[in-house]
Order: sequence, then structure tokens, then C-alpha cells
Amino acid sequence: MAEDIAVVVGATGGIGAALIAALRHDARYAHVVALSRRRPGDWTDDARQTWLPADLLDDATLAAAARRIEGLGTPTRVVVATGLLHAPAVAPEKALRALDAATLALLFQVNASGPALIAKHLLPLTPRDRPSDFAALSARVGSLGDNALGGWFGYRASKAALNMLIRTAAIEHRRTHPLGVCVTLHPGTVATPLSQPFAAPGRERFTPPTAAGHILRVLDGLGPDASGGFYGWDGVAIPW
Ligand SMILES: NC(=O)c1ccc[n+]([C@@H]2O[C@H](COP(=O)([O-])OP(=O)(O)OC[C@H]3O[C@@H](n4cnc5c(N)ncnc54)[C@H](OP(=O)(O)O)[C@@H]3O)[C@@H](O)[C@H]2O)c1
Repeated sequence: MAEDIAVVVGATGGIGAALIAALRHDARYAHVVALSRRRPGDWTDDARQTWLPADLLDDATLAAAARRIEGLGTPTRVVVATGLLHAPAVAPEKALRALDAATLALLFQVNASGPALIAKHLLPLTPRDRPSDFAALSARVGSLGDNALGGWFGYRASKAALNMLIRTAAIEHRRTHPLGVCVTLHPGTVATPLSQPFAAPGRERFTPPTAAGHILRVLDGLGPDASGGFYGWDGVAIPW
């Protein structure tokens, strides 16, 4: 039988890097496979870890990564820790008048379509007869029911779309993989480049290692009945 492996997409990210560091020490996984657009600066492949290139905007790179992963083992844990909130030419919209079609399209590509394509390529590689979990990091601000403040149209909407895509994938996945878990998770506010411009004095942010610990603990606690859900860093379900 192929060895169980863990896969983290977004190896260069604050939370992604912390997840990899934690999973490397988890004896349940013989190997950790890290995916990102560019190789993390301090990365070395070794007996415990392999880096593979993957750009969420290029489905061919995701298909190629999936083929390599299949050769390395059986993924029993997959965490998609990629995401986009701001970039040099992308700022969260404060008002409707700021909406821009190209920015909206990019946010949907990175935050919704990309993780869904990862699910397309990797969920079929998970075992049919044993437990496994797949989590895409979403955000509480993607909750329609929780949206009282407004603003951040593109980020919110792309995370809401992500939640729907992963829930829909979970329904299909359970037909062939009844022990599989497929969810979206909100990591809390975490001190990473994504949240840095919005850090408010006095508002506590989790460190990436703490956030990674929360995410892995929540995944360890979820059974197949929880598949298709959207959960917070504390394991509590978040309204859609
Ligand atoms: N930090 C928070 O407070 C917070 C709160 C709620 C939800 N989240 C969610 O948690 C997840 C991780 O966020 P983070 O805080 O760790 O952010 P981060 O440090 O900015 O990391 C984001 C990651 O996404 C990757 N990425 C962006 N575009 C990509 C693309 N086209 N192809 C492949 N990878 C791409 C980045 O890769 P590059 O290095 O190549 O750009 C990076 O690895 C995101 O989904 C975010 O929305 C974070």
C-alpha cells in the first residue's frame, strides 16, 4: 500500500508554511508535499518533504502536481492555504463605486476557482476505504449570514463562492469516499502578510504556528458527518 502523505497548497504563505512545519512532525504522514508558485526561500527537498510548482491560475500546473503527488503516496490530508486579499494593484473595496471587473475576476480565480481545481485533481487521489480530510481555508467574512459591516466585496464574494464549490464537491465526494471529510475553515485573524495592512492596534492576531495548530486540531476532530461544512478555528460551524 502507498504511504499516507499530507499536501499543503500555499507553501510560501504565512499559514501554509506553519502547516508544513507542523505536519513534518506528524508521524501519521510519511511525507509532506508542499505546493506554491515559487519554491520557498529556505526550502530543501528531503526524505520528509517535497516541493512542487503550482499556480492556481494555471490548471495544467495543478494537473502536473497531482500526477507527481500520486507517485509519492496517498494523500490523506490536504490543506489549501492559498488566498488573495490585497496585492499591489488589488485593494479590498470600501464601497460599491470601487468595484472593478478585472479585480473581481482575479479574486474569484485565486480564492474560489483555484482551490476548487485543487479539489478536482486531489480528491480522487484520497483513499476510498479509509478516513481522509481536505480543507480549503476560507474566511468568516465570506459568510452571508455574518455580513453586517459590508465592504470587501470581491474577497467576501469569492470566499462565499469557495464555500459553495467545496460544499458541492463534498456531496459528490461522499458517494465514492464515505469516510472522507471535505470542508472550508476560517483560521481566525492571523499575523501574516495577508492581514498585515489591516492589523488594528490592540486587536490580537494568532501567530501562524498557533493558527496551524488550530486548523490541524479542528481537522482531527471532524468526522464524515461534518463533511460539506464551514467551520471556525475553534471547530464551531459558521453560518453560510
Ligand atoms: N491571515 C488572516 O488573518 C486570515 C483570515 C481569514 C482567512 N485567511 C485565509 O487563510 C489563507 C492563508 O492566508 P495567509 O494569511 O497565510 O496569507 P499569505 O501569507 O498572504 O499567503 C497566501 C498564499 O497564497 C498564495 N497564492 C496567491 N495567489 C496564488 C496563485 N495564483 N497560485 C498559487 N498560490 C497563490 C501565495 O503565494 P505567493 O507567495 O506565490 O504569492 C501564498 O502562498 C487564505 O485563504 C486567507 O484568505 C487568512
